[in-house]
Amino acid sequence: MSIILIDNTVTFVKEKLEGAEAGHDWFHIERVWKLSLKIAENENVDSEVLQLGALLHDIADAKFHNGDETVALKISRDFLESQNVSEEMIEQVLFIIQNISFKNRGEVPENLSLELQIVQDADRLDAIGAIGIARTFNFGGFKNNLMYHPEILPKLGMTKEEYKKSEGTTINHFYEKLLLLKDLMNTETAKKIAAERHVFMLKFLEEFDREWQVQV
Ligand code: ADP
Ligand code: NI
Repeated sequence: MSIILIDNTVTFVKEKLEGAEAGHDWFHIERVWKLSLKIAENENVDSEVLQLGALLHDIADAKFHNGDETVALKISRDFLESQNVSEEMIEQVLFIIQNISFKNRGEVPENLSLELQIVQDADRLDAIGAIGIARTFNFGGFKNNLMYHPEILPKLGMTKEEYKKSEGTTINHFYEKLLLLKDLMNTETAKKIAAERHVFMLKFLEEFDREWQVQV
């Protein structure tokens, strides 16, 4: 395990994400990285692949690059090559970056590596609970979306293209994505954490609705 490689990756990612939207900034990466290591405590994984995948998974999120999903792969490959990482390991890391996303869930290969499953769980856990709520409103604000509109209903079962273009409300995003995540966790550890965070979101939604109706 090369500590220097991980250190260099941290420095590279921090620099690249300078000025990123707060929900997809270095601190999101740091949480996903730490959470991945925590989940991996009970699993037999290649820690280097896991950590590189976690650190690089949002290096160039397509939604901030006109939908281009190849930018992240190119930036990551160039970086890993500059660090003399073996081709075999580069492919394992790029596999994580390419397949982690919620919006691509219809297209992923069947045999997901354990490293991908864990980083995906960690990324999805950071999308729910208190932090998930905060990130979602931050992103909605960044896009200048409405928080809520009583007449705009959530759209379930959107295709990938519809999902990417969707200009719904932030509250709808809970029904379109966040509340679905607990059933998509791969590992037992993540399922347990997700169950608690899910309950917290339900409470939040109930309270939001109560205050919106001005029931005091
Ligand atoms: P992924 O990167 O896993 O495909 P998304 O792109 O859907 O997932 O979003 C990552 C996070 O960004 C979400 O968990 C949420 O916090 C925020 N986000 C994405 N789309 C929206 C939206 N339409 N409204 C509010 N928040 C959003
Ligand atoms: Ni992420």
